[in-house]
Order: sequence, then C-alpha cells, then structure tokens
Amino acid sequence: MRILSGIQPSGRLHLGNYFGMMRPALELQHQGQAFLFIANYHAMTTVDDADVLRRATMDVALDFLACGLDPARTVFYRQSDVPEVHELAWLLSTVTPMGLLERCHAFKDKTAHGHASSHALFAYPVLMASDILAAQADVVPVGQDQKQHLEVTRDIAIKFNQKFGEVFKVPAPLIRDSVAVVPGVDGQKMSKSYNNAIDIFGEQKATRQAVMRIVTDSKSLEEPKDPDRCNVFALYRLFADPAQAAAMADRYRAGGLGYGEVKKALFDLLWSYFEPFRRRRAELAAVPARVEDILRDGAARARAAIAPTLQAARRAAGAA
Ligand code: TRP
Repeated sequence: MRILSGIQPSGRLHLGNYFGMMRPALELQHQGQAFLFIANYHAMTTVDDADVLRRATMDVALDFLACGLDPARTVFYRQSDVPEVHELAWLLSTVTPMGLLERCHAFKDKTAHGHASSHALFAYPVLMASDILAAQADVVPVGQDQKQHLEVTRDIAIKFNQKFGEVFKVPAPLIRDSVAVVPGVDGQKMSKSYNNAIDIFGEQKATRQAVMRIVTDSKSLEEPKDPDRCNVFALYRLFADPAQAAAMADRYRAGGLGYGEVKKALFDLLWSYFEPFRRRRAELAAVPARVEDILRDGAARARAAIAPTLQAARRAAGAA
C-alpha cells in the first residue's frame, strides 16, 4: 500500500503541528510504503520571498528528520526536485473543468481575504492531484481542510481514466479527525496566526515562559479543579503516560494543587520529550549538505517510481 502526503513549509513547528500533523505522518512509515514530500511549489502560491521559502523548506526537512522520519523507509523529497509532477499536471489540467476549480473553498477563501488571485493559486488543486496521481498513491492522509482537494483529485483521475484509458489509481482520502486539537496558551486552537503557540524547538527560557502564560481559571490553590476544563492539563496529558495523567487528574479533583505546579510539571515533561529531537536537529543543521543528499536521494527514488506513470499518461493522451 502506498501512502502519500505533502507538507507545506510554514515556519516554526509548534505543539499543534506536531500532534496534529507530524506525529500521525511519521506513524505512516510503519503502515505501508510512505511517500512524504515538502510542497514548496504549493507554498509559492502564498510565499513570495525566495530566501524565506528556501529557509522554510530546509527547516521543515530538519524538523521531520529530527523527529524521526527515516529516509531509508520513507521516500522523502522536495516537490520541486521532481519535474515529472509538473509535466503530468499539464496533462491533468486538460481534463479539469474550470467549474471544478472555481468551487474550491481554499481558493475562494484566500481571494475573499484579499489574497491576490494568481493562476497558480487557482491551479493549486491540479498540482496537488498530480502529486498524488503521479505516485499512484492508494491512501492520502490529510487534515479536514484538504478534503475538497482530494475530491477534486479523485474527479480528475476518474475523468482522465474515462477519457484516455485506465492510467491512474483513484486514491482514498484518510481524513485525520480533529481529536488532537491542541489548545494554545490562550485556550484557543494552537495556531501561529493566533500568536498562542508553544514551539517545539524554541529556546528553553522562551518555552518555559510560554508554558507559564497558559490561561487558567482563577481558582485558589485549595479548591478542587476540573482537569477536563484545564488548558494546562490538556497539554500535560499529551506527554504524560496514562497512569501519570490519571494520578494528576485525581490531584486536580482533590484540591490543594496549584496551576503553577502543573505548569512546571508540563514544562519538564515537554522539555525532556523533545530533548533527543532537539539534539538530532542541531546535529543535522550543522551539516546541511547531508540534508541535501537525503532530499536528493528521495527525489531520485520518487522520480523512478513516477516516470512509468507519466509515460503511460502521455501515451494514453497521444502525447507520446
Ligand atoms: N495542500 C496540502 C496542504 O496545504 C499540501 C499538499 C500538497 C498535499 N500536495 C499534496 C497533501 C498531496 C497531500 C497530498 O496541507
């Protein structure tokens, strides 16, 4: 079974990204043949600074490698290193009705919020379909926000197959449920744009300060507290083992536990949880050429896997 997913480089990784997207993506390595790529061409629809894009691309590569991506198992590559995807995108665009793209929420939302509507932004779902169909992915795990793009991908695959003959596998979406909604320090969903994030590779002092800033109610130390309505506990349980979390929940209910103590326990747990990742990230960041090699090797494997599909699609369409 081939599982494929793409990640947009988007700056510093926080706990919400880690539990919501990265950890589930890394678990896929053990469930089939995983293809994971950095969607830097997609990112160009919203990032227009070359240095920012280059740095963010390297950062996301470091983040994934540091957090346990095994490049021997997973085909890990940068989208722009696999030109076959773009050639296929053209073939796919010939069977993509304008109306299908005009209905896409992501496009409508971005332009409604004043984002300039480039052709790339409009064609975004076609490139995404190409990422997926080129690799003949069976399963595509994505967040809820990408569900419609997967439907577009399926429509395009079916259309092409009907018109030119069976070339593409029609992929199944695997929509991650939002069970792992991670609260930010203000209690809203953790998000860079809300300025409430706790970064996973932040400085020790800044990380501790962020944890100490987590909003709680104003109950006194003695009062019993409800762990299920506490932002600190919601984060604590992500790191604690189940017995540890249950013991902490009992202490909440018993009273006599202050939020300051839980925050300190949370900080200690999260700091030591990411310790090995931090070390590995620093090691890799010191040898960018190694990271380049890993990505190039991934691209070579991706290209080898994709080439026969591109060739079949060209032949089917009469372009070879
Ligand atoms: N659009 C996806 C996102 O923003 C990223 C992406 C690009 C992707 N190509 C993909 C995800 C192919 C899955 C498969 O999250």
